[in-house]
Amino acid sequence: MNRERESELLARLADPAAQRPGPLGSHSMRNPAAAYTCAQRFARERTAMFRRLPNLLGLSSECAKPGEFLCGELGGVPVVALRQADGTLRAFVNACRHRAARLLEGCGALARASIACPYHGWTYALDGRLRARPGAESGFDDIAKEELALHPVALDEQHGLIFARAEGATPFRVDAALQGMQQELAAYGLEHYCPIETRTQELAFNWKLVIDTFTEPYHIPWLHKASIAPHYDFDRWIFDAYGDHGRFIGVRKSVAAELEKAPGEERRLLPHATTQYLLLPNAVLCHQIDHVELWRVTPLAVDRTRVATSLFAPSAPESEKERAYWLKNLDVLLGVTNAEDFPAMARIQQNLASGAVPEVVYGRMEPALVHFHESVNAALARDAAGA
Ligand code: FES
Ligand SMILES: [Fe+2]
Repeated sequence: MNRERESELLARLADPAAQRPGPLGSHSMRNPAAAYTCAQRFARERTAMFRRLPNLLGLSSECAKPGEFLCGELGGVPVVALRQADGTLRAFVNACRHRAARLLEGCGALARASIACPYHGWTYALDGRLRARPGAESGFDDIAKEELALHPVALDEQHGLIFARAEGATPFRVDAALQGMQQELAAYGLEHYCPIETRTQELAFNWKLVIDTFTEPYHIPWLHKASIAPHYDFDRWIFDAYGDHGRFIGVRKSVAAELEKAPGEERRLLPHATTQYLLLPNAVLCHQIDHVELWRVTPLAVDRTRVATSLFAPSAPESEKERAYWLKNLDVLLGVTNAEDFPAMARIQQNLASGAVPEVVYGRMEPALVHFHESVNAALARDAAGA
């Protein structure tokens, strides 16, 4: 986000229409409990959105140098992105062509410029070609190596963001996938951010409840009254839709001093804000005061979700003290979500699964929530129509 956009958004925050509570969306929404509990619907979502749409695999800085890799799982398909010798990025199904062993885990750097399967040692070049079947070339000599390259996966990288799509060979572009959000995201220079740490956990609720957690500040004075509530101005927010995606900004009380500055004085929004980019279907990219956080969700079952939480610093830490500062930020973030938000989400899942609660409602004062669920419904409808 550039300074011009920051002052534009500050002007919107200062508008009386944006306060107590505001600004409101055009309508509320009722969502049947089945949206969170129906296994058939879950299977449709996983195929239509997590396999057939571009998903945010990660940030370029997670696999910046030749031989570095980043794994993910898109709608059940294990995927690995690999930095090539020429600096470009390619993605493959993360499975050996011999007997489908998982080749790589997490992210890191290859020891040599090749992938070695941990099961029987077949090796692959960075571009996915099968190089060698050690000790067994004659044992497979009626199947040419050329036929056994890793299966390619569609990928594009721009603005420091890596998107991949598990199903369908047609190429796509990040700019198109971002649906209008690209200019604002490009201004962050995300390619320069340094990955500090990623922590992964499995949660006992539907993947959409992970996203729901982040889409309204309405709950802050209640659920977070003993933790973060004193710092937040939960009566002001900004929401803008970008196609199926959305940008939701919550602000801290400290923003008041910026709003009172005289015209002409430099005013900043980002240091007082939690700026969340809801990237349908799988990610929430969040600029938080002085760093970037990334939440990546992997739906495992209708009521089970893997969540990876990552922190990125604006530049590489120059000392242990600086690194400790960023890790402390991650501790605090996960401390609040794991102690307060996620247990509440697990209870919601149980309540909805009981069959005694037919629906939930999202109010006009929860416009990001309404937009998110309408976008999920729209994506399912488009997929069913073959669009
Ligand atoms: S499964 Fe990879 S070498 Fe056998
Ligand atoms: Fe919360």
